[in-house]
Amino acid sequence: MGFVIAVDGPAASGKGTIAGRLAREYGLPHLDTGLLYRAVGLKVLEAGGSLDDAEAAQAAARGLDARTLSDDLRLTTGEAGEAASRVAGHPGVRAALLTLQQDFAAQAGGAVLDGRDIGTVIAPDATAKLFVTATPEVRASRRWKQLTARGDAIALEDMLADIRRRDERDAGRGAAPMVQAHDAALLDTTDLGIEAAFDAARRIVEAARARHGL
Ligand code: DC
Repeated sequence: MGFVIAVDGPAASGKGTIAGRLAREYGLPHLDTGLLYRAVGLKVLEAGGSLDDAEAAQAAARGLDARTLSDDLRLTTGEAGEAASRVAGHPGVRAALLTLQQDFAAQAGGAVLDGRDIGTVIAPDATAKLFVTATPEVRASRRWKQLTARGDAIALEDMLADIRRRDERDAGRGAAPMVQAHDAALLDTTDLGIEAAFDAARRIVEAARARHGL
């Protein structure tokens, strides 16, 4: 495996921004794996299906074209995130998305992936592993600011309830639950702005690179 950076953590922890900045810093391709689950959830909803229907979700996951995802704004809504979290609990969905993610991680030059199970399941041999977190209150307020800035009407306390429910579901599921890998560095961004969080992330990656002699 090349130079792979695995970034995991709960919703709105800052992991996506950090992963994107690390990718630019090191000139690596970046995959936001949450988009895959969001696309599967939306496909099921758009077909009029139920998110509890494991078969339908697995079929949607098998037909996914990852190249079309990054520019689709519908994937960034709260509804898509909630749908993603629900379909992500079906082991068949996770299995259907496994090869695509592992192939991305195995690219010759390396890669950055962010999600919930990158350091534990997708790329257990990653060069550097970060588990990015922050208190639910801070994460809810960040996400609320993002969503209201683009005109979505949502109350802060509903956002906090959503975040808590998602954490519970993502960490409590049987299949590849969200958990800090034993060899991942914990990065708590509760009191950090984006620049300070990115600096801390870069230091973690540099230390990991030095350990690997890269
Ligand atoms: O990171 P995100 O908010 O876009 O992820 C949406 C949901 O997708 C998340 O609540 C759980 C699921 N997910 C997952 O189970 N495994 C991943 N590697 C990424 C996301």
